[in-house]
Amino acid sequence: MTRAVCPGSFDPVTVGHLDVIARAVDLYDEVVVAVGSNVSKRALFLPQERIVMLREACAAWPSVSVTLFSGLLVDFCRQSGAEVIVKGLRSGADYDYEVQMAQMNRTLTGVDTAFMPTAPQLSYVSSSLVREVASLGGDVTPFVPGGVLDRIQRRVAEQAGG
Ligand code: PNS
Repeated sequence: MTRAVCPGSFDPVTVGHLDVIARAVDLYDEVVVAVGSNVSKRALFLPQERIVMLREACAAWPSVSVTLFSGLLVDFCRQSGAEVIVKGLRSGADYDYEVQMAQMNRTLTGVDTAFMPTAPQLSYVSSSLVREVASLGGDVTPFVPGGVLDRIQRRVAEQAGG
């Protein structure tokens, strides 16, 4: 039995994330979607809110669980019995960032990372652009699962209201 971890900030989950998770579901027996905090990013949603949205979006996959993690990803992998980290790669910039983390993680505890090239039609989709477009009044319908759309519109309105 192989358990994989799909880690990320998921602030919020996008159709690009779901494409990677769906493909991990096909490859591994169990997939743990692990919501962490990227200290360099300003969050729109609380971790618990992101988890609720992810659980809704992943409800059709019985082999997927969604959980919060803090601290080192490699420690979480060890605690949860995961053998592999799965990450999507959209571009060379992603590669440059991700390959260093993958090498560091493998050096720390031996856990390896499997990279998935994202679907070409989704390679421009990112949570940070979704946050920016939504906050400036743009339509993010094509980029997020249904349950996220309402929440992002409400959150942006709350923030605009002070
Ligand atoms: O979606 P993101 O923002 O690319 O997710 C990044 C995340 C949360 C997966 C990454 O920052 C991470 O693994 N954080 C945990 C802390 C850690 O293990 N840092 C050392 C990485 S080599």
